[in-house]
Amino acid sequence: MDNKRKPLKRHEALHSLSHHHMIALHLSLKMRRAGTDKEMLPVHELIQEAEAFWNPDGLIHFREEEEILLTAYAQYANVDEIPEIQEMLMEHVNIRALFDCLFRAAEPSLDTIHKLGEMLEKHVRKEERVIFPMIEKALPEDRLQEVKPYLH
Ligand SMILES: [Fe+2]
Ligand SMILES: [Fe+2]
Repeated sequence: MDNKRKPLKRHEALHSLSHHHMIALHLSLKMRRAGTDKEMLPVHELIQEAEAFWNPDGLIHFREEEEILLTAYAQYANVDEIPEIQEMLMEHVNIRALFDCLFRAAEPSLDTIHKLGEMLEKHVRKEERVIFPMIEKALPEDRLQEVKPYLH
């Protein structure tokens, strides 16, 4: 058995989404550590960083995954029978709601920040480890090339 972990090979069409995932993971770590002894930056700065991350890039990222990627994928797979896809969509709804809640709050609670950080991390890891590999496998090369310019 080869125990060496092979780096994930991402199709070039998904490179920009994967790059954005890295940024999301950095933010999620800062969120999960907020208010703890491992805090990386003051909460008000973290909220500013979260806003810069989310509006508009995060919002656009979610839309592209739903409107471009899943629209293509649903033509090659029975998405009704893939629980990870249902979970992914529900996570989009819940993460959108939590970001909105965070930005509307006069005093954002650490609970909300931690919850959002955890959800974001779990979501990104699921897309990277499970969902993107399924999509790369299911979509023919020409279809991947076709969606590429629409994913930023
Ligand atoms: Fe997503
Ligand atoms: Fe994503």
